[in-house]
Amino acid sequence: MAILVCGGAGYIGSHNVRALLARGEKPVVIDNFLTGHKPAVPTDVRLYEGDMRDPALLDAIFSEQHVDAVLHFAASSLVGESMAQPLKYFQNNIGGMLALLEAMSRHGTDKIVFSSTAAVYGEPDSVPISEDAPLRPTNPYGESKLAMERIMHWVGQAYGIRSVILRYFNVAGAWPDGSIGEDHRPETHLIPLILQVPLGKRPAITIFGDDYPTPDGTCIRDYLGVMDLVDAHLRALDHLRGGGESTICNLGNGEGFSVRQMVEAAQRVTGQNIAVNVGARRPGDPARLVASAERAGHILGWRAQAGIAEIIASAWAWHRTHPNGFAS
Ligand code: UFG
Repeated sequence: MAILVCGGAGYIGSHNVRALLARGEKPVVIDNFLTGHKPAVPTDVRLYEGDMRDPALLDAIFSEQHVDAVLHFAASSLVGESMAQPLKYFQNNIGGMLALLEAMSRHGTDKIVFSSTAAVYGEPDSVPISEDAPLRPTNPYGESKLAMERIMHWVGQAYGIRSVILRYFNVAGAWPDGSIGEDHRPETHLIPLILQVPLGKRPAITIFGDDYPTPDGTCIRDYLGVMDLVDAHLRALDHLRGGGESTICNLGNGEGFSVRQMVEAAQRVTGQNIAVNVGARRPGDPARLVASAERAGHILGWRAQAGIAEIIASAWAWHRTHPNGFAS
């Protein structure tokens, strides 16, 4: 039986594909390569190039492969872009989910693990954030993921499709040997941007605001290693295969680090000085996002293992050896 990995050529999807292979599963990938990278997919994995909103393509995949379960990573995911182009986000993300669930119900596939996001919470009243916190997205990206969650809920009730929804906090790092990693164009995420300084690709990292109500004035986030994230997906798959009920779990370390602390940690990992500028706040950035991942512990037996030094070291192994990402 195959595991269909939607968006398997993207950052998080490609790490999951490798991990599935490593434990003897048969992943098959669909990706439209708007943001994914062909070299990120191992050559022995069946790759379907095309858009998830194409029902004929989905029918072909589900007919050719015996799809036991779906891991769904495919989505547009830039918060800033979503503010400027909300319809793109609702079309791609919600449209993709509808087409996928329709195909799953047509072909009798009843298990799905879905990548959601801390962005469904918006600005939290308090941290750590539990899954029961108010859901008030502050951008169309988060709104689209919340809509996808709600669609899965109702479709699950009607058609018996069980789901594990994983709300990721700040995912970072790379496969430990540095052979695959993060390659977004444009890059907007903090750790890859910080590491561009020791790579000589930018003179300094700009901190987006140092007047937040946090100890050093910079935003606090919960950084989670991509390999821990992969582990959570495999556990979620096992949970569903074992007959487990649908659930929603936050994924984070449960510990927050400020932007300045991340720069300092990167200096220690790379052994190089990293120049810093302080710029204006980035619109829409909450001051502090930290997960309570207790539910993932109870239900999936999952706990994040990698700390920020290990996460940054793996990212550094990737970026140092692939300064131009997959085009290196
Ligand atoms: N930051 C800087 N300078 C930069 C880039 C980022 O100071 O050049 C700061 C941001 O202001 C933020 C922190 O670093 O405080 C982390 O920023 P990222 O862009 O790496 O990540 P975000 O927390 O904005 O976004 C992440 C995910 C999104 C998700 C969001 C939920 O990447 O997909 O969390 O709020 F939607």
